[in-house]
Amino acid sequence: MLYSKRCIVTGAAGFIGSALTRLLLTETGATVLAVDKLTYAGVPESLKESGLDPATLSSSNPRLEFLKADICDQSAMDKAFADFRPDTIFHLAAESHVDRSIDGPGEFVRTNVVGTATLLQAALKWWKAHPGFVFQHISTDEVYGSLGAEGFFTEQTPYRPHSPYSASKASSDHLVRAWMDTYGLPVKITNCSNNYGPYHFPEKLVPLTILNCLEGKPLPVYGSGVNVRDWLYVEDHVRALLLVNERGKPGETYNVGGHNERTNLEVVETVCAILDELRPRADGSRYSSLITFVADRPGHDLRYAINPDKLMGDLGWRARENFDSGMRKTVQWYLDNEWWWRSIREKKYAGERLGAGRSISAPAASHVV
Ligand SMILES: NC(=O)c1ccc[n+]([C@@H]2O[C@H](COP(=O)([O-])OP(=O)(O)OC[C@H]3O[C@@H](n4cnc5c(N)ncnc54)[C@H](O)[C@@H]3O)[C@@H](O)[C@H]2O)c1
Repeated sequence: MLYSKRCIVTGAAGFIGSALTRLLLTETGATVLAVDKLTYAGVPESLKESGLDPATLSSSNPRLEFLKADICDQSAMDKAFADFRPDTIFHLAAESHVDRSIDGPGEFVRTNVVGTATLLQAALKWWKAHPGFVFQHISTDEVYGSLGAEGFFTEQTPYRPHSPYSASKASSDHLVRAWMDTYGLPVKITNCSNNYGPYHFPEKLVPLTILNCLEGKPLPVYGSGVNVRDWLYVEDHVRALLLVNERGKPGETYNVGGHNERTNLEVVETVCAILDELRPRADGSRYSSLITFVADRPGHDLRYAINPDKLMGDLGWRARENFDSGMRKTVQWYLDNEWWWRSIREKKYAGERLGAGRSISAPAASHVV
């Protein structure tokens, strides 16, 4: 049967939320209410191919509606539920960049913790009158902390977050489970490894590397580049989210990852090698000559790696892309879509170092109560 639910997607103008919205609109019969505050990371242009006019935020697609709103605004969230009448919510809105959480943790506590609690309250009221409703929470493997050279995160791994970002996401996961255990709200949680792919905001490692290469700028690698992440192509992630929504059991957690562990240095070198082939430098030098080792991120976790056996065994999920195929698609997308990243680079983020611990702002008191 065609999936035709009414879905709220929070954070829909972000990297993963826009990919999920595209998937829902192109491969299912779902109707989507895209909710986003449009922070610096919210890019309405990412929903252009889904039918959104980025200037007016009106949609030419009858199955897509956009609501500019803050998930911390209880009355706006209550109204969104009452007006849209969702069957489910995919909750992705978050402050998502570890480096920014080091410089200013307050917004992370506000959006990721208070915002999630606000949405849970709106969802709870809605679910009491509409029992088929499910709350799906999208989280990160960073809640589990850091691994040594061996082993994988499973759904049973105890939480041990280290950064303000991962601690705020861990808090949000706990809140979601608490609303199920205490009030009976049906919830599903996914914890995913590092994503990469089209429409990724240029402050993150992969797009930053691609764009710095194209502009002939240094390619910053933290520490000695040995930190390992488990890389997943964003479309594989959002297919997993849809599968969990359709077939996952309420109350369950599913880890999402594709067994693509790479050191940060390997990631940067891969991007360089693909660009050497697709867009050789005019002077014949290799892009890797731009690699520059910089001071490490404070509290930098050494290694993340996901065991996705539950998702694969119980729900039959498989990643379609491996690291090399996904990375090639990604580099090609940035080469073909300068219209998307050029204005972000010029107006929002030009590649400066974040999170070196230089400009720490404490959470405002109103954010933490
Ligand atoms: N990117 C990854 O590698 C990754 C991996 C695992 C999990 N996740 C999780 O997936 C989710 C999406 O990540 P992403 O990479 O797409 O992030 P992103 O930063 O690209 O997008 C976040 C979106 O949320 C919106 N937003 C922020 N604060 C808001 C608020 N108060 N109210 C409404 N909207 C708000 C922003 O405008 C933005 O559009 C996050 O919850 C993140 O923790 C991300």
